[in-house]
Amino acid sequence: MATLTTNDIRTRFLEYYKNRGHEVVPSSAIIPENDPTTLFTGSGMQPMLQYLLGAPYPSGSSRVVDSQKCFRAMDIEEVGDNRHTTFFEMLGNWSFGDYWKKEQLKWIFEFLTTELGLDPNKLYVTVFIGDEKNGLTKDDDSVAIWQELFKEKNIEAKAIEIGSEENGAKIGMSDGRIFYYEAKKNWWSRAGVPDAMPIGEPGGPDSEIFYDFGTTHDPKFGEKCHPNCDCGRFLEIANSVFMAFKKVGDGKFENLPKRNVDFGGGLERISAALNDNPDMFKIDIFAKIIAVIEEESGKKYMGENMAPMRVVADHLRGAAFMIKEGVIPANKLQGYALRRLIRRSVVKMYQLSGTTDSSELFIKIISEYIKFFKDLYFDELADTKKISTVLVDEVKKFGRSLDKGIKEIENINPKDISPKFAFDLYQTYGFPVEITQEILAEKGIKLDLAKVQDEKSKHQSASRTASAGEFKGGLGGTSEKDIWYHTLTHLLHKALRDVLGNHVHQAGSNITPERLRFDFTHTEALTSDEIEQVERIVNSKKDEALTVSFINMSLDDALASGALAFFTEKYGDVVTVYSIGDFSKEICGGPHVANTSKIKGVFKIVSEKSSGAGVRRIKAVVE
Ligand code: ALA
Repeated sequence: MATLTTNDIRTRFLEYYKNRGHEVVPSSAIIPENDPTTLFTGSGMQPMLQYLLGAPYPSGSSRVVDSQKCFRAMDIEEVGDNRHTTFFEMLGNWSFGDYWKKEQLKWIFEFLTTELGLDPNKLYVTVFIGDEKNGLTKDDDSVAIWQELFKEKNIEAKAIEIGSEENGAKIGMSDGRIFYYEAKKNWWSRAGVPDAMPIGEPGGPDSEIFYDFGTTHDPKFGEKCHPNCDCGRFLEIANSVFMAFKKVGDGKFENLPKRNVDFGGGLERISAALNDNPDMFKIDIFAKIIAVIEEESGKKYMGENMAPMRVVADHLRGAAFMIKEGVIPANKLQGYALRRLIRRSVVKMYQLSGTTDSSELFIKIISEYIKFFKDLYFDELADTKKISTVLVDEVKKFGRSLDKGIKEIENINPKDISPKFAFDLYQTYGFPVEITQEILAEKGIKLDLAKVQDEKSKHQSASRTASAGEFKGGLGGTSEKDIWYHTLTHLLHKALRDVLGNHVHQAGSNITPERLRFDFTHTEALTSDEIEQVERIVNSKKDEALTVSFINMSLDDALASGALAFFTEKYGDVVTVYSIGDFSKEICGGPHVANTSKIKGVFKIVSEKSSGAGVRRIKAVVE
């Protein structure tokens, strides 16, 4: 069979499921349209959430297939190895209360082996081992189905638990084809394991398919490793989630009104498996881009050049899709992620070829991407122009800062170079500390990165103190009650989301020593029953004496960790995330009580009414 291109794989997938009764639907945007709690669409199921929870699919279909554009900002720093990318396409098929495990596993196995021609001997699968504490059972149904499917290919498929013992010997990779793993690996919900799921969230056991690249590509690829080992020998290419449950309380799960299948397969990863090469950047779409970078930089894709070339190839693809959707470089939210993609690409090219203006190369790369995706996601002429303009503007601006920084380093007396100088360069010009370090190393001067980090922390805590001061000033001096109400506002917000749903988000907040006032998105008046439930949750969390803690992290990391953010607010690069036990996690400036038990009295909602279209207002007190 002639080798299939990445575009062919996508087409075949959509066709294959169309022939099995699925409606082919277009990808949703990477900037979520109706979900203010996440910056990017990070999986195929995100735009399908309401249907997985039971709402009917608009066209009435119970079988849907697509290829979803996804972006994972938390992976920005990981890019550079052979498999991480920020942007990717997730092939997806869904059964909304329609077919179940038997059809799902059979179809995807057949698609990969018969339709695409992957060798079944190189496929390994994983299944959920169960979670007694949460009353969730071992997925033996999937094991039986897998054994049947492998048998049809004349492969004996034993189900094993890595590390367990049989006849006095430890069981290892060579003994199995089907591997049981715990919830950490084989349970899927947006929040992760059952214990981490908020109430109301859907989830279920999953069964993943891994491709084995064998042991010869890399000395790190061990004989003894197993599908979930991180060495890179095994690549997860497909994940069938059997979404049958909804969390209804701590340790309590109920069946969803309909049981659903949520399948996600990495398009580029499947392409790498078909290529039988663990380097994802060798697949057609990236190979072409890497060739352009090689030609323009005069450097070969090998050794230490590989990581920067991969970063540029990945980041500019993500940037093209973001700009297409209207994002422009900025200092917050999606615009900030875009700015990082572009600036990191400029820095990598500077490291690779010593130039601070890579705009021509970047235009070439963008044009290649647009050609590759032109009938699917881009309009060739209009988008090439629009994306190049936004990109070049940012590249030039940042390039000028780089030039200025480089000049400052060249002009300063080496003995005056200090960690503070490196931090100031970063602060003033956005000049990356690694580059300062590199230029200094060429002059034989060693920069202490830990000390630069100290400068950064000093600076952050100084600005935090300043903003806390403003905050207190604005309140006319923060009283003990103000602080109670701040913490109660977080508990109230989370309780409202638990009772009414995750569409609830903060639209405004105002605190006096007498009461809290909280505006939130919700269309209908709350029933007395809902008000009572919310009060009950807040009071019980207050009485559980939960510790309130905070950490500082980057905005991306905060969002990736599931912290709630309010997009009406402006955040800096580093934010403070307050956690109340494991009940609530929000980006916030404080102040808060150290433990919820410090709040005395009973929490009571004293009024609930409309505050504009789609917004409700609650006033509440502790008495
Ligand atoms: N939602 C599942 C995933 O993202 C398919 O892996």
